[in-house]
Amino acid sequence: MKIIRAKDYQDMSRKAANIISAQIILKEKSVLGLATGSTVLGLYERLIHLHNEGELDFSNILTVNLDEYVGLPAQHSQSYRYYMDNNLFKHINIPYENTNLPDGMAKDIEKECREYDDLITGMGGIDLQLLGLGLNGHIGFNEPATEFPKGTHCVTLTESTVKANSRFFENENEVPKKALTMGIKTIMSASKILLCVNGKAKAGILKEVLTGPVTPAVPGSILQLHPDLTVVADEEALSEML
Ligand code: F6R
Repeated sequence: MKIIRAKDYQDMSRKAANIISAQIILKEKSVLGLATGSTVLGLYERLIHLHNEGELDFSNILTVNLDEYVGLPAQHSQSYRYYMDNNLFKHINIPYENTNLPDGMAKDIEKECREYDDLITGMGGIDLQLLGLGLNGHIGFNEPATEFPKGTHCVTLTESTVKANSRFFENENEVPKKALTMGIKTIMSASKILLCVNGKAKAGILKEVLTGPVTPAVPGSILQLHPDLTVVADEEALSEML
């Protein structure tokens, strides 16, 4: 595991974007696993900037996102498809058909989950998976549990996750209670993992994830077993690690 210390959010975003840029430069047909949320917004802005400067070409990149809410159509301003389109895809030269998210509107959820795993396998697996960290230690939407879920599956979000996500909705009742998410096996199968974490609120959980026991009660703790994990975190997030 490599831990890269960043001064602050901007510095974390720059460093993480540089790692993704290096991946794209080294392999122009990379499969990138992407995340949504506040943590990665700055690094997407930075990737857009590098693209505008003529430094990054996304025309051969394939993307698969970690997760999507169940029941929100793509046009809904809080769907993860909408987030990805508006915060990244529309601003770079990636062909739309190269971008993939689980379909939270699928009629047959089981089939959708199986097909999403098959899609990733068919791409030859994920070269670099980007992750944020939930306050409860979740990665993707793999919530604390008694065992590690394997493939893409449907989850019921915990109260704390619904609460954390309610900041984007009018009120807590509007937050979808279910989501589709890549499983732990899918995430752990990525060749490289890049975990980004910022802010004081995540200092305690980051310490547990990186130095505590590996347990499904703290889903991110499994990352300790990944052979190529890079953590880019700011000083506040790393403040309990010393
Ligand atoms: C989002 C995702 C989540 C977030 C996590 C952190 O696609 O899979 O695991 O990465 O909830 O969210 P933020 O960055 O908003 O604190």
